[in-house]
Amino acid sequence: MKPAGLSFEQAPPFGVPLRFFLTAPWFLVLAAALLGWRGPELFASRWSPVTLALTHLLTLGFMAQVMLGALLQILPVVVGVVVPRPRLTAALIHIPLTLGALALATAFLSGIPVWFQGALGSLGLGFGVALTAINLALWRAPVASGTVIALRCALGALLVTVGLGLSLGGYFGWGWRLPVVTMTHLHAAWGLVGWTALLVAGVAYQVVPMFQITPPYPRWLIRGLAPLMAVSLVVWSAFLLGGRETAAALASVMLAVGLAGFAATTLYLLTQRRRKIGDPTLGYWRISMASLLAGALLWLATLLVPALAQAPQVQLLLGILLILGFAGAVINGMLYKIVPFLAWFHLQAQLFRRAKIPTMKQLLPETRIRRQLWIYLTALLLSLAAAVDPSIFTYPATLALGVTGAWLGVNLLNIWRMYRRALRSSPP
Ligand code: HEM
Repeated sequence: MKPAGLSFEQAPPFGVPLRFFLTAPWFLVLAAALLGWRGPELFASRWSPVTLALTHLLTLGFMAQVMLGALLQILPVVVGVVVPRPRLTAALIHIPLTLGALALATAFLSGIPVWFQGALGSLGLGFGVALTAINLALWRAPVASGTVIALRCALGALLVTVGLGLSLGGYFGWGWRLPVVTMTHLHAAWGLVGWTALLVAGVAYQVVPMFQITPPYPRWLIRGLAPLMAVSLVVWSAFLLGGRETAAALASVMLAVGLAGFAATTLYLLTQRRRKIGDPTLGYWRISMASLLAGALLWLATLLVPALAQAPQVQLLLGILLILGFAGAVINGMLYKIVPFLAWFHLQAQLFRRAKIPTMKQLLPETRIRRQLWIYLTALLLSLAAAVDPSIFTYPATLALGVTGAWLGVNLLNIWRMYRRALRSSPP
């Protein structure tokens, strides 16, 4: 199906997004390996260095990797603006991001400043190139649709997240004197609420109605949610930095309500599907949005009952719901939409009428998507259980996370193998 306004002619070469997509799942496996190595210690506190290492294997190695790769793909298609020198740009983002994520995790684990310095250099380069290339494209976009507005807000939030992250890294790498705790709260919120949730929302406005055959999102939500959340983030940050705790709490109510509203609207739209048999990625959207709703409600609860906010277990539950539940699940599901489609699309463009092209279902059978979903859900539930009782659930969670990550990686590699085989076997 070719939705109105999408211009596939401008799509970048397959290798541009693919290098990000084939790397990302192995960071889930690495995260599982770290969990297996350090065990229940990881669930002691969100502030422990091992937990921070794990957090960034997921937020940088898995999430940012796919999100930036997908942006390089969708910007030309959805926004109609080409990213300059796409192969070089992709390499200059992908390599430093991958090395930087590994270096930052090593830095947290070892505590050695030079690892922080290396990580900052690498991540600074990767994100610097990404933000420049993607912003140049986004601000030249001819139409400011709801998706473009949300993507602009998400990119602005990424800039803030990375700026704060690099400064926090400077604290560890060069001993800069900073209000570390407040800045970490800001960094985490701009990363998860601004960058991640607004990007997912911007993409959801397009793909949920298109792939799940639902009615469209309400117009006011499409145009209003992202700017409202961005303004709330700015106001919240200003109050927090100014030491106005009560006002900051009120602003964060806005943020939590915004997230809950988006999740609830999406879950409602998914019940209004016009097709009985669900798309195989429907389950990922449901897990993702249910996690976001649960995370937003838990956040609201911590605002109403301050004792809850201090409990280490509650903070971990919140992190797991937002990172593994909300972001991880929707990214996993989207990969299953994007990669087979792109493989098929590029084969179509290159081999049209010269050779038989595998269908998308041959490239990725639905049963594999559905089975991996169950392991993903198991990994999420076991991780949540491990936050409450690490002694029992840490190792089962490790196993499930490792299996689901590796399975995703193998499924994507298989698509790439079939793509290359089809290209090789075509007559010249
Ligand atoms: C240039 C990239 C980044 C760098 C250098 C970086 C660095 C850091 C540092 C040093 C901390 C720990 C602060 C402390 O212990 O006081 C931290 C925390 C955190 N970072 Fe990043 N970060 C980066 C990108 C991201 C991104 C893109 C996200 C995404 C969503 C993210 C999510 C988080 C979260 C959630 C925490 C808080 C963890 C917790 O409270 O347990 N980071 N980051």
